[in-house]
Amino acid sequence: MDFTLSDEQQSLQETARRFAQTEIAPNAAHYDQAAEFPREIIKKAWELGLVSMCVPEAYGGVGLSMLDSCIAVEEIAWGCAGMATSIMCNDLGLMPILVGGSDEQKKRWLTECTSDFKLVSFCLSEPNAGSDVAGMQLLAERDGDHYVLNGTKCWITNGGEADLFTVFATLDRASRHKGICAFVIPRGTPGLAPGKKEDKMGQRASDTRVIHFDNVRVPASDQLGQEGEGFKIAMQTLDRTRPPIGALATGIARRALDESVAYAKERKAFGFPIGGFQAVQFLLADMAKDIEAGRLLTRQSAWMVDQGMRASKYSSFAKCFATDTAMRVTTDAVQIFGGNGYTKEYPVEKLMRDAKLMQIYEGTNQIQRLVIARELLKE
Ligand code: CAA
Repeated sequence: MDFTLSDEQQSLQETARRFAQTEIAPNAAHYDQAAEFPREIIKKAWELGLVSMCVPEAYGGVGLSMLDSCIAVEEIAWGCAGMATSIMCNDLGLMPILVGGSDEQKKRWLTECTSDFKLVSFCLSEPNAGSDVAGMQLLAERDGDHYVLNGTKCWITNGGEADLFTVFATLDRASRHKGICAFVIPRGTPGLAPGKKEDKMGQRASDTRVIHFDNVRVPASDQLGQEGEGFKIAMQTLDRTRPPIGALATGIARRALDESVAYAKERKAFGFPIGGFQAVQFLLADMAKDIEAGRLLTRQSAWMVDQGMRASKYSSFAKCFATDTAMRVTTDAVQIFGGNGYTKEYPVEKLMRDAKLMQIYEGTNQIQRLVIARELLKE
């Protein structure tokens, strides 16, 4: 087993790290406080090849492997988790096209996102169907060579900014997962309307909205796969996009550790730097140990995706472990900073707020445990 990053991977890591240090981190507090979408910064990331990373070279993309993407996402998230989510969820929006699209559809939609700066949203969750994907209500009714969509999606990342939406809808609610279809819908299609922006606890630089569908007519040629294949396209997408969520969480946790180590060296109590006390040392040691373990699980699951293996269990290991780690590490970072950590003058309270979302989106950590248990019982 060789854990060394290749020269190309080291150079990618360096590019993402420099971008995070110079463009993202210095602006993170502003976009967090203003809850503003940092379009110019995301555009610069796109110019560097750090957005739409998963698109193969054949469609004009940079063609990064999932492992490469995870290396870059960890660095970006070190700078700001909200910006990393905007970037990562764009790849999430593209993934159903890669998983279920025909070559013609890939050429059309993917090339559109690589030749110009365009963002994509993944529209799966609904007000009454978050964990229970098969219970979705957004209805797709066939009308000649079109489908007509009616209903609502929610918690849609990049919802107010996206140019393309990959949307899951059901032909028949009673058929549960067997009735679900996937579509690609461009912004501006009549009846598709982003709703109010959510006022979130953390990751406030990312744009999260409800999307309304009111008699949205979609050409049948813009369906990904066949009728009834949408559920599996969604599950196969999430198998591939949960490793980068592990990477994102690892980036948040690594930032919390970096801040904590620096503070522990400088802050004095009882006449000594607090890093000299075992109470603080043990917290730092546990942080470092769990971050490393989360990174290893993340890279292993990403490698499995790259090998074309079914990675459901390992992707859930990575997502669940790394995001629980981020929550614990950021909470401990606030503890190390004491009262200072609870104020907006220091960076760790943002990290703790940002970490909480990691345990909820892309499948709650309860759903990850369910996926793991089902895979174990099937084996
Ligand atoms: N790959 C391929 N096929 C799969 C699969 C996978 N990973 N998982 C399930 N399937 C297949 C099953 O084999 C089964 O197939 P058959 O009909 O042939 O038997 C079918 O799909 C149905 O599977 P289940 O019976 O397991 O389905 P379920 O209704 O019990 O649900 C679930 C499974 C795992 C709970 C699923 O609903 C799930 O993943 N929920 C979480 C949803 C989620 O992660 N949402 C995140 C939204 S995106 C987001 O948050 C990002 C953002 O914008 C911030």
